[in-house]
Amino acid sequence: MGESILTKTDGPVAVATINRPQVLNALSRELMERLVNVLEGYDADQGVRAMVLTGNERAFAAGADIDEMADRSAIDMLLINQFARWERIKRLAKPLVAAVSGYCLGGGCELAMHCDIIVASETARFGQPEVNLGIIPGAGGTQRLTRALGKFQAMDVILTGRLLTADEAQRAGLVSRVVPKEHYLAEAMKIAHELAAKPPLSVRLAKECILKAAEMSLQDGLDYERKLLYLLFASADQKEGMKAFVEKRRAEFKGR
Ligand code: CAA
Repeated sequence: MGESILTKTDGPVAVATINRPQVLNALSRELMERLVNVLEGYDADQGVRAMVLTGNERAFAAGADIDEMADRSAIDMLLINQFARWERIKRLAKPLVAAVSGYCLGGGCELAMHCDIIVASETARFGQPEVNLGIIPGAGGTQRLTRALGKFQAMDVILTGRLLTADEAQRAGLVSRVVPKEHYLAEAMKIAHELAAKPPLSVRLAKECILKAAEMSLQDGLDYERKLLYLLFASADQKEGMKAFVEKRRAEFKGR
């Protein structure tokens, strides 16, 4: 059957590819355990500065593995608690870019929403069709989609289970960029390389602040942002970045 997650690096950019094409990249427990371990490994790797998560042209992922879940009892679900490990993706410090083509449904859509930037092929289709299976989303769909789309569009998508085109998803605020299908991975790689060339501490703390925006009051978020801005004045990269600007030269960032 082969590896469920393929990995490679391209300079400072690490790429994880979901690889269960025979089931449209359905996210089995084994696959998610491996994915989380791979991403955490890259997050700890000094040579990696940005990550890309992708699937194949037909599917980013068509959801959690339905065959695996179908016969479980509520107590099995509680004891296995498989969606808890997804929280570890949320805690990654480095930027994670999703490169999405084809189906991005249920847990697949929730996985994309754990990423920081979503690049979509014009062929991508997003949705949370769990209601059609007699369940609801369980890896953050009702919360993250509502924050991305607002109440009324989230209700429309989750209650009807309808799929959004890439353009609809972008207009609704779920997708960062839509590109022709030949370019979705290249565009995600381009963005990841661009992020990898930025001062790593700035990227890391900006990401942290943006994620806090979903969890804090505006005033707490503003206070948090200001503290992290002040913290960056302790970094060598802040001194180098501002000095290079004044001296009209290119800055050399070290991530310190
Ligand atoms: N789990 C397990 N297997 C899946 C799967 C999934 N989520 N999605 C697709 N597959 C399998 C199909 O069973 C099929 O396998 P066989 O060839 O052995 O029959 C294979 O992938 C190809 O799929 P289809 O033949 O169905 O392809 P299609 O082009 O006719 O339809 C589709 C594509 C509309 C995406 C359809 O496969 C589908 O509706 N998939 C399920 C989508 C879904 O409901 N996702 C939510 C899952 S629950 C969840 O994710 C919970 C959560 O919140 C975390």
